[in-house]
Amino acid sequence: MIVKSLGIRNFRNHLLGEYEFGDGLNIITGPNASGKTNIVEAIYYLSLARSFRGVEDADIINHKSEVSQIDAMVYEGQIKRNIRILITKKGRSVLVNGKKVSRLSELSKCVNVLLFEPKDVMLFRGSPKERRNFLDINLSKQFPIYLEYISRYEKALKQRNEILKSGNIDKNLLDASTETLVKYAGPIINYRAMFVKDINDILIKITHALTGVRDKIEIVYRPFVNMSSDYQSVALEAFNRSLESDLRHKATSIGIHREDISVSLNGKEIGTYGSQGENRLVALALKLSPYFMITDRDKKPVVVLDDVMSELDPKHREQLIKFLRKFEQVFITDTKLEIEGSTQIKL
Ligand SMILES: Nc1ncnc2c1ncn2[C@@H]1O[C@H](COP(=O)(O)OP(=O)(O)OP(=O)(O)O)[C@@H](O)[C@H]1O
Ligand SMILES: [Mg+2]
Repeated sequence: MIVKSLGIRNFRNHLLGEYEFGDGLNIITGPNASGKTNIVEAIYYLSLARSFRGVEDADIINHKSEVSQIDAMVYEGQIKRNIRILITKKGRSVLVNGKKVSRLSELSKCVNVLLFEPKDVMLFRGSPKERRNFLDINLSKQFPIYLEYISRYEKALKQRNEILKSGNIDKNLLDASTETLVKYAGPIINYRAMFVKDINDILIKITHALTGVRDKIEIVYRPFVNMSSDYQSVALEAFNRSLESDLRHKATSIGIHREDISVSLNGKEIGTYGSQGENRLVALALKLSPYFMITDRDKKPVVVLDDVMSELDPKHREQLIKFLRKFEQVFITDTKLEIEGSTQIKL
């Protein structure tokens, strides 16, 4: 995929911005607070109709305005799409070639963005939620049914927690919500296990390309119960065992919403033992790995790297740039970077 042009209005500090991008490397440079991250935030917004900064839409709209607008021309091979997103404090609307789109999955089919942001250096040190998000976002984009399973699971989880919180527990309702959790957790575990298995091989190759060293790198996913022919009864039994504690804590303590993945470098947990630079490179490798799972060249995601270069030493920077030249389209923000043969956008 290629984002050919971007027009933004009242988007954060940009009152009006028009940009033309090239395929390959696009470097967005400018001083601090000039609006570089805001531009890539708009590009990311095209893929999921939300910011990656975990903020409300109201924060995105320029302080002096009521409505933000993003216009983009996106190519999937020969297919050209015009995307328009209007963001107001009351909600947003998405138009693809002038037609309103209501399902998120339809939008992420048109634009797929893989992002690396500065806080990803904490990916292995921070909470499991960030790592689950990585799995959930990528699996949902690849398999819309996965998103469906997750939403149904979350709905049942909310119900179960409400029952646990209520003073007078209805055992039938509680059992029903536990059964729903078990039902949807099954396929979710299968998808997560498959994804992690596929990513393992890719991760080894990317890390090698980025570091130049053949490190042993492994990503492991341990589901809350193992998949087997008697999964249903084993999972129900696990929920049963934790029921007493769940009742005491008024929350569901096991399930796919508590799972995690761990990554080790040469046999040692990267979050605990890895240096800052190793954490950065392995997190980057992991976040880029879904790119190589998509085989159709026209559907390859756009890659966005916000502020990643300045923290790397010259050797790793050079290796990363060499690696990035393989991608269809990449956006890099930096205060002063210049790369031969790239499209330069100066703010
Ligand atoms: N809703 C908004 N309305 C107006 N300005 C905003 C809004 N949201 C953020 N800004 C401002 O946009 C400016 C640019 O932010 P941005 O994060 O894009 O800078 P940057 O170029 O990436 O800087 P750095 O090099 O420090 O990362 C900031 O000064 C910020 O205060
Ligand atoms: Mg920035």
